Amino acid sequence: MVCYELHMEDQHLIELRARIQKNHKARVKLARHWPTQAYRLYDRDLPNYPYIVDIYGEHGVVWFKGRKRFDNDEIKDQQLIELVASELGLNREQITIKKRSPQKRFERYQKLDSQSQLILIEEAGAKFEVNLTDYLDTGLFLDHRPLRREIARLAKPGSRFLNLFCYTGSVSVMAALSGATTCNIDLSNTYLEWAKRNFTHNQLNPTDHRFYQQSATDLSAIQGQSFDLIYVDPPTFSNSKKAQDFDVQVHHEKLLIDLKKNLTPSGEIFFSCNKRDFVLSPGLNQHYKIIDWTRQSLPEDFRDAQIHHCFRLRTATER
Ligand SMILES: C[S@@+](CC[C@H](N)C(=O)[O-])C[C@H]1O[C@@H](n2cnc3c(N)ncnc32)[C@H](O)[C@@H]1O
Repeated sequence: MVCYELHMEDQHLIELRARIQKNHKARVKLARHWPTQAYRLYDRDLPNYPYIVDIYGEHGVVWFKGRKRFDNDEIKDQQLIELVASELGLNREQITIKKRSPQKRFERYQKLDSQSQLILIEEAGAKFEVNLTDYLDTGLFLDHRPLRREIARLAKPGSRFLNLFCYTGSVSVMAALSGATTCNIDLSNTYLEWAKRNFTHNQLNPTDHRFYQQSATDLSAIQGQSFDLIYVDPPTFSNSKKAQDFDVQVHHEKLLIDLKKNLTPSGEIFFSCNKRDFVLSPGLNQHYKIIDWTRQSLPEDFRDAQIHHCFRLRTATER
């Protein structure tokens, strides 16, 4: 019996090695083609290894995604780290493992640690600051790589770009590199400062752009202003002393209708969210022509088709 179990474990490890090698080969092509230094290497591909492995340049971040941890999970953590390190030619110290899931949904954007392992990674000619240790998220959502490229394509010199819930401003950087002037709104000063640093890393002067620390549901700072492109990427739920609770399912309709006043006649809103069972309010069809752009917005290194939803909204009737 013990012998059989050992054999099974060896077999699982062989399968894991083969999968990491296969994925790595495909990702090297993807990384060259895009080009990008950041991609998802492994996405819960094998049920015995419920992990996500993201690569940021010369570093890896491993998330344990199992429902609960078992006694031998520490061994599996080490096996996975060992395999990723040897396949990519990294030291084990270059791989960070995150085992903690957020206790409560509104804790997602809080600080977890203060090691501040910061690196700069390049994607499609832009540089982004990534923090591998201190928060649950690293500062760059890899699943939004196609959306960043689409915004870079649509933004033109002189375009006006509004980013609500702007986080670290990576999408704004892409718009600004195409010549847009950007307006960025987020409740957190930490993320707004991070966004400004991302501008600086790309030789963009943050003082040429606007950054407002306030709730994205409060549009007073942009009253009477029009934008050609608007990006809205709210959290599923946010609860802060600085603003009223925001629940994307409940509040997205009003927010998107309110934004109509700020959209130029030929402008477009990109709306995305990560709530898995999210349903776009049918009432929005009275105000916008809407395209569900989720499929096109998913990068090929993500196996999870529900990682996010993405919609494009326009007031103009022609497409
Ligand atoms: C990019 S969004 C969430 C991204 C992704 N859709 C998700 O669910 O994880 C996270 C950002 O929203 C900001 N945020 C949360 N509540 C907010 C609010 N009411 N107004 C403005 N920003 C808010 C946070 O500070 C953080 O920078």
